[in-house]
Amino acid sequence: MMKHLFIYYMLVVLAGAVTAGAQSLPSLQRQGSAGHLMVNGKPFLVLGGELGNSSASSADYMRPIWKKLRAMHCNTVLAPVYWELIEPVQGKFDFTTVDSLLAGARRHSIKIVFLWFGSWKNSMSCYVPAWVKKDYKTYPRAYDERGLAQEILTPFSADNLRADVDAFRALMKHIREHDEKYQTVIMIQVENEIGILPSARDYHPQATKAFHQPVPTALMQYLQQHKKSLAPALAEAWRKNGSRTSGTWEEVFGKGLATDEMFIAWHFALFANQVALEGKKVYPLPMFVNAALNRPNVKPGGYPSGGPLPHIIDIWKAATPAIDLLSPDFYNPDFIHWNDLYTRPDNALFIPEIRFEPSVSAKVFYALGHYQAIGFSPFSIESTDTPENEPIGKSYQVLTQLMPLLCQHQGKPTLDGVLLDKRSDADTLTFGNYTFIVKHDYTLGWSPGAKEENWPQAGGLIIQTAPNEFIVAGTGIVVSFVSAQPSKGRTGILSIEEGGYREGHWNPGRTMNGDQSHQGRHLRFPVGEYGIQKLSLYQYK
Ligand code: DGJ
Repeated sequence: MMKHLFIYYMLVVLAGAVTAGAQSLPSLQRQGSAGHLMVNGKPFLVLGGELGNSSASSADYMRPIWKKLRAMHCNTVLAPVYWELIEPVQGKFDFTTVDSLLAGARRHSIKIVFLWFGSWKNSMSCYVPAWVKKDYKTYPRAYDERGLAQEILTPFSADNLRADVDAFRALMKHIREHDEKYQTVIMIQVENEIGILPSARDYHPQATKAFHQPVPTALMQYLQQHKKSLAPALAEAWRKNGSRTSGTWEEVFGKGLATDEMFIAWHFALFANQVALEGKKVYPLPMFVNAALNRPNVKPGGYPSGGPLPHIIDIWKAATPAIDLLSPDFYNPDFIHWNDLYTRPDNALFIPEIRFEPSVSAKVFYALGHYQAIGFSPFSIESTDTPENEPIGKSYQVLTQLMPLLCQHQGKPTLDGVLLDKRSDADTLTFGNYTFIVKHDYTLGWSPGAKEENWPQAGGLIIQTAPNEFIVAGTGIVVSFVSAQPSKGRTGILSIEEGGYREGHWNPGRTMNGDQSHQGRHLRFPVGEYGIQKLSLYQYK
């Protein structure tokens, strides 16, 4: 009997191991018009936080951070892997920091997006190991236009590429060996905010030689195939110079800083693509590259040039088939403007960095609702001393409950969102028979805050679950309803319930009527409150 039980037990364990092993890897798919991230075989949204640059280098420093992440309901941490620490001696790897992050994340049921701080970190090459820094003859630098070497590796060196690829492959092998069955690591960022300063292109002799060669055929073909959808500045430069199908960079795009930037963008992108491609051969996780957004009216060379920026995004897309996403880092205003540029049929939105300030708690609803982003992540998330009071934690708590529903509606017209402030205090969204008029809560004039010069940002999202049924979530919004086609009658509220989802099931709280719905006129989340309400509408004449 015991023997049979033992055999049975072993079979169960083996079957479990086979199933875990057979589980498909984290992947990025397309669903309707949006991206769709799959992790452990299920749809997933990154409710993330990125660590400050040096935090992940010390397990002791990290110890209290894990609890903070949990307190803010983060399901993912974006954590750097530092080339200088994992390969202190060429070819000798030390994955202590990586292993300690894996262990910490698993203990706290948090996923990881690793940021490969390899050849470039905000333009500079500060994270390359000492053996690379010191051997500048083997690992050459980019030069500025005066011929001065910079602390920036040139992308025009096969040795530079090989050194980065070797380290990255070793990292991906280590992750695969130690994490494939858990899928703690779900995505990889390749390098960090690539771009060149203080010149608009690299002036290393190899770079200048390449600059005077013909624009690569692959790019020329891409431009012709995507002629109708090219970024306006790129399309215009090409058109103005005769829409040539071959020629040097200056012949095809004209002389000037803009062309210098296009040229360096192509070569940075080729380098990053090669790193990603080689890494994926070892362990094919979804990979992305992040961008330091440029400021208006600053010329190339005045900002980190040649990264995956909207005005040269086509150059990056043409060079990077191995990279799944190009992603904006937000330290600029104009959240909507930049997100519009990064949300494309060939690019799902993922926000790996955004300045950690209270408004992120509203912006996340808009990012996930309107742009149907696959994730969101304030930078230096551990800098708070009161994680349990952080507004982003309140939004993440709501969004955690909604994750299955949000993923189900990604890419469909049944999901949308709003972002409001004093200047832009109302928006309208239509779902089937109904138009939602969503206003900033302060438009009611009921709160003392309404008299203030600045209003906190307010945000929300709406999911249509059936023709007359909706889930509304957010903060600082007040929503009223009219019929999309007045001839079908007027619209009224049938019922509103506040509540939440527990293990996928709706768990109702209060029925929101009377003063809470302004006697049947609206649905509301006051400023400072975060929640989910289930709404039924009807029409009458
Ligand atoms: C953007 C970078 O990507 C981060 O690593 C960090 O340096 C922040 N800027 C600091 O604001």
